[in-house]
Amino acid sequence: MADLTPLLAFRWSPRAFDPAATLTADEAASLLEAARWAPSAGNGQPWRFALGHRDDETWKRILVNLPSDDQPWARHAAALLLGAHLTAGTTASGTTVTGVARDAGTGAAYDLGQAVAHLTVQATALGLYVRQIAGFDHTGLAADLDLPAGVRPLVVAAVGRLGDPASLPTALRAQEVGLRRRRPLADLLLR
Ligand SMILES: Cc1cc2nc3c(=O)[nH]c(=O)nc-3n(C[C@H](O)[C@H](O)[C@H](O)COP(=O)(O)O)c2cc1C
Repeated sequence: MADLTPLLAFRWSPRAFDPAATLTADEAASLLEAARWAPSAGNGQPWRFALGHRDDETWKRILVNLPSDDQPWARHAAALLLGAHLTAGTTASGTTVTGVARDAGTGAAYDLGQAVAHLTVQATALGLYVRQIAGFDHTGLAADLDLPAGVRPLVVAAVGRLGDPASLPTALRAQEVGLRRRRPLADLLLR
């Protein structure tokens, strides 16, 4: 395998988080700063975030909208971060426009993904771990967080310190300590 920078090589997505660990204000600022400096088409920066620290109101509203299977482990994360993006026809200032040349919906989701990827790298630099969750109640969370029209929730990132895999149910424990796999590079290259 070709060499990777340690920040990428050591990143992985756990489910076992330390239930006693908290996310400091400096750490939260550092993660959001990493997302803020991600590249985006036309520098549109169509990403928006809602950050909840364990047991605060935002955290509770995010947690209850996660799949019931994921809530037991996600509640141990120090923070839950919603990643949302502006929808087609919504500008960075929140106003609605027509005739946008780019598919702002798809493009904004792509840009949000880059911002969250930056955040995961910064998390690794801080000794933090992130597991993203896309399968949540998007409509419920948008309502519970009172998101403005034109802001679409896409992903929740559970962020925290590593916990004990023994805290997980047996099936998840096996995944937690199992080998991570990737397709061979030859499968990915089109030519
Ligand atoms: C956009 C996105 C959505 C994901 N959704 C879920 C999810 O709903 N539930 C879950 O347990 N993991 C989810 N994951 C985590 C992936 O399963 C994980 O990143 C993948 O298995 C690769 O493992 P690694 O991150 O440890 O390399 C998601 C990851 C991404 C990037």
